Amino acid sequence: MKTFLLSMITILIFAGFLQSSMVFAEDGATLYVKLTCNTCHGNQGKGMIRTEDKAKYSLKRKALYKKLVKMGMPAPIVKKLRPLYRKKFRDESKYINAIKELIGENNTKKYKKLIIEISGRVYYKKGELIPGFENYPRHAGNKKIYLFAQMKDILESRRTNGNSEAMRGIKPFLDSNKVTDDDFRSIAEYLSNVKD
Ligand code: HEC
Repeated sequence: MKTFLLSMITILIFAGFLQSSMVFAEDGATLYVKLTCNTCHGNQGKGMIRTEDKAKYSLKRKALYKKLVKMGMPAPIVKKLRPLYRKKFRDESKYINAIKELIGENNTKKYKKLIIEISGRVYYKKGELIPGFENYPRHAGNKKIYLFAQMKDILESRRTNGNSEAMRGIKPFLDSNKVTDDDFRSIAEYLSNVKD
């Protein structure tokens, strides 16, 4: 019984050891996401950039119809746009197609710029940096040894500037997951190989 217990304990300890040391024995790309690095450095270390456009087109308010007339669109044509009242479009081309159906191809061509200007609201465009992350570094294609050294220096407080605390915020999370230098190296390797 004693030997049985002992071997059970050994197995348990070994299993525990395996679990803690193997949790992140994964490739750099997986680690990069699992360790939430992407939430500040963006997809593949390319920075926090918008991945799609966000815009809205609508002629919801009466004031917008009035504005169109004021800006030179004939009232009878503007009136034809009434079915668009309360409709919202997120896609410019769908919006323009809906307009074409109501006022015809030529008029649409003629007034497209004006209509978009008055009824469109562009929130952001694909490729733009997300506010708040403008001065966070991107890593894609940087040297592996540089990336590794900077990670270590920031996390171990040898590198400090106005931004460093933000990165150090995840230190307890990294520590609790027993992230090793080899893990950091494989992340650095992965990032250094991302084509920009
Ligand atoms: C909460 C946001 C945040 C998270 C999460 C985060 N970082 Fe950072 N990281 C930063 C900021 C901000 C800096 C700039 C710090 C500075 O200049 O000292 C930085 C700097 C770096 C640098 C130095 C880059 C250079 O060009 O000098 C590396 C490398 C890096 N981070 C890797 C990582 C990795 C790997 C992870 C995931 C384990 C990670 N970061 C998670 C915010 C973050």
